[in-house]
Amino acid sequence: MRLPAAPEVLPPQQAADGNRITATTGNAMTTTPTHIPVLLDECLDVLSASLTGVNPLVIDGTLGLGGHTSEILTRFPDATVVGIDRDSTALRLARTRLAPFGDRFIGVHTTYDHMDIALREVHRDTANGILLDLGISSMQIDEADRGFAYAMDAPLDMRMDQTAGITAAEVLRTYDEIDLVRIFRDYGEEKLAARYARAIVTARESAPINRSERLVEILNDATPYALKNAGHPAKRVFQALRIEVNGELDILRVAIHNALTALAVGGRLVVLSYHSLEDRIVKMAFADASSSKAPHDLPVVPVALRAGFRLVFSGARTASAAEVSRNSRAASVKFRAIERLDTAA
Ligand SMILES: C[S@@+](CC[C@H](N)C(=O)[O-])C[C@H]1O[C@@H](n2cnc3c(N)ncnc32)[C@H](O)[C@@H]1O
Repeated sequence: MRLPAAPEVLPPQQAADGNRITATTGNAMTTTPTHIPVLLDECLDVLSASLTGVNPLVIDGTLGLGGHTSEILTRFPDATVVGIDRDSTALRLARTRLAPFGDRFIGVHTTYDHMDIALREVHRDTANGILLDLGISSMQIDEADRGFAYAMDAPLDMRMDQTAGITAAEVLRTYDEIDLVRIFRDYGEEKLAARYARAIVTARESAPINRSERLVEILNDATPYALKNAGHPAKRVFQALRIEVNGELDILRVAIHNALTALAVGGRLVVLSYHSLEDRIVKMAFADASSSKAPHDLPVVPVALRAGFRLVFSGARTASAAEVSRNSRAASVKFRAIERLDTAA
C-alpha cells in the first residue's frame, strides 16, 4: 500500500539540509529539526553481517525521518530498504529526504507488525535485516499540536497516525475509573495510578480534559506534597496514555513475532527500546526464539526442536556516555539483536 506522492513537498535537493529537513506547505515554509538516530553505527555494524548477499533487503519498521535508513542506503549501496511508518507526516518528510536513493527506498504507511505488506511491496518472501527503533521521534515530541509533551500545552491527541483510532482526550473522557487505573499502572508503572484516576474522574464531571495543561494541573494537584519533587507527576501518565492510544505493546508483541518469521536465514533483527515495558517484550521473545525446545537430556536434538535463532550478543547494549551527552534520547536505550539460523545445517 504505497501512499500517493505528496505534491506539497519540496524537491529533494532543496529539502536535504544537513541535520535539518526543510518542508513547505503552500507558501508557508517551516523548518523541522531532524531526529538524531540513536546507536547508528552500532545498528549498522550488527546489520552489516546480514547484508553481504546480492541486493539485500532491509525493512525499517520505524522509518521516522529516515535517519537510520539514509545511512543504510549510503553504507550498503546494493541494499533496498522498505521503510514503514504509521505517521504520515514523518513518512512524507522521509520520502523527500530519501528521494535521491530512487527506487532503492520504498515508503509504506502502515504499522510495523505488517511485515507482509512490506515484503509484498518488493515481491520478496524474506528480509535480510529488520530494524525497529521504538517509540516516537523528536519531531513528534516537538510538534506542539500532537499533545505528546507534557511540557507544552496542546490538544490531547497523542495518535501517531492521526487518521485512525481514539485520542488521549477521548480516553480520559470515556474510560471507567478502573480502566484508567489499569493503564496508568500497567503502561506507566505509576504508583499513584488510583489517586490520579480518581482525580481525573472527579475533574471531568465539571469539564472534559482536552488539553495537556489541564491534565498536568489535575495531576499536580493530586500529587501528595511529599512526592512533589519525585520527578514530574505527568511523565508516567503521559507515557501510559500514549501506549494505550497507539496500542503500542500489543502491536510490538505481534511485530516481533512477524519480524522473526520474515527473516531470511542469516538475517538479523535489531531492536532499540526506550522503556522497560518494551524491552521486556523484546527480551522475552528473543529468549524464547533462541532456545531449543528439546528436553535437556536428549542426546541428539531433532531439527524441529532446535533453536531457530541465536542472540547476536548476550543481554542489552546501551549508549556510551559520549552519545548520551550529544543526544539525551539515547540515555534510556536498550539495544538487542537476533539472527535466524539455518536449522537444517
Ligand atoms: C524513534 S522514531 C524512529 C526514528 C528513525 N530511526 C530515524 O532515525 O529517523 C520511531 C518512529 O516509528 C513510528 N512508529 C512507532 N510505532 C509504530 C508502529 N507501531 N508502526 C509503524 N510506525 C511506528 C513513529 O511514528 C516514529 O516516526
